[in-house]
Amino acid sequence: MNKSGYMEQAEQTLLHTYNRFPLVLDHGEGVYLYDTDGKEYLDFAAGIAVQAFGYHNREYTECIKEQAEKLLHTSNLYYNVPVIRASERLRAASGMDRVFFTNSGTEAIEGAIKAAKKYAWTRDGHAGHEIIAMNHSFHGRSIGALSVTGNAHYQEPFAPLMPGVKFADFNDLDSVKALVSEKTCAVLLETVQGEGGIFPASQDFLEGLRKLCDDNDILLIFDEIQCGMARTGRMFAWQHYGVKPDIMACAKALGCGVPVGAFVMTEKAAGRSLKPGDHGTTYGGNPFVGAAVEKVLEMMERDRIADHVGRIAPYLEQKLDELIAEHDFLTERRGLGLMQGVVCKKPVGTVAAEALKEGLIVITAGQDVLRFVPPLIIEEKHVDEMAEKLSIVLKNI
Ligand SMILES: Cc1ncc(COP(=O)(O)O)c(C=O)c1O
Repeated sequence: MNKSGYMEQAEQTLLHTYNRFPLVLDHGEGVYLYDTDGKEYLDFAAGIAVQAFGYHNREYTECIKEQAEKLLHTSNLYYNVPVIRASERLRAASGMDRVFFTNSGTEAIEGAIKAAKKYAWTRDGHAGHEIIAMNHSFHGRSIGALSVTGNAHYQEPFAPLMPGVKFADFNDLDSVKALVSEKTCAVLLETVQGEGGIFPASQDFLEGLRKLCDDNDILLIFDEIQCGMARTGRMFAWQHYGVKPDIMACAKALGCGVPVGAFVMTEKAAGRSLKPGDHGTTYGGNPFVGAAVEKVLEMMERDRIADHVGRIAPYLEQKLDELIAEHDFLTERRGLGLMQGVVCKKPVGTVAAEALKEGLIVITAGQDVLRFVPPLIIEEKHVDEMAEKLSIVLKNI
């Protein structure tokens, strides 16, 4: 079947929840993807910040093949070795204490919300607590995660959502302080806002939040689903700031292609929150994803991927700044490490679609931001190639 045949079939069978780009992907190698017609694409999206090692990494692929031959799934009624090893590595990388593996980022947020509510229930002896989340945030599409997502457009059709959520302004400590009450159980934010348009948190904001939460026995929850796993040049973005959360949600590059997330917490948060019977999942943390997570963390540490990001990111920033200087409709660059956004005053969806014709995959964030979240293994030559292709697209747009 040819490309349009596949696309037609997909539109007849899949629920139409995405306006997909006209691209049927077949396989990948390194930082390149290939469609069913054999056309090559330089990938600066990494499956939305997932494929940290690019595609078809031999070591990773061998590892998951081996585990698939051995044992895929057991349920959480029993122990399994890969997930024990994976959680040890995640603890070491984060300096946090307790891990719960989920199947997605959304579920990691759900778990973090439940942990915070239970913590406050233990603290106060009753339920009815509130969460302070941020405007322009994104935490997922389930009812709980959507309730803390500060985007009316995503929320409106699904009201009423989970009650007890208030929204403050990102990087505005006073707006958070104004919402704190004896009911508050948690403050939740992305360390670098992703979908909202690539906004890194400021140092003062995170430090202020840490103090505010400590003073009021409120849990500080960081969503590191997109910005975590070495993407910003540290294993977790909060490590740039030296501000440690009580609970952290991660996913995406945690599994580098197998569906896995986690919420990770300090002993203090764990000791006073979720207990046997409070939370569970059939698939979460099965041996298959455990092996993948262990391998991802092993490779990231051994190959010093965060340091590589720290070296290559300034070059990406420089090239993006050059494009901004050339085109007056590109107005600003924001980001941290290999999580960069360029504000574009022309329709960003059109830019992304035209880029595909040039063999370049980029995605958008918010209404007017071109988002660059490439595989973490990119080199200068890939940045040059991206800039050349994008320059052609921008000149023609
Ligand atoms: C910051 C953030 N939180 C949560 C999610 C939801 O994760 P998932 O799509 O794995 O459920 C995403 C997904 O894009 C995200 O970027």
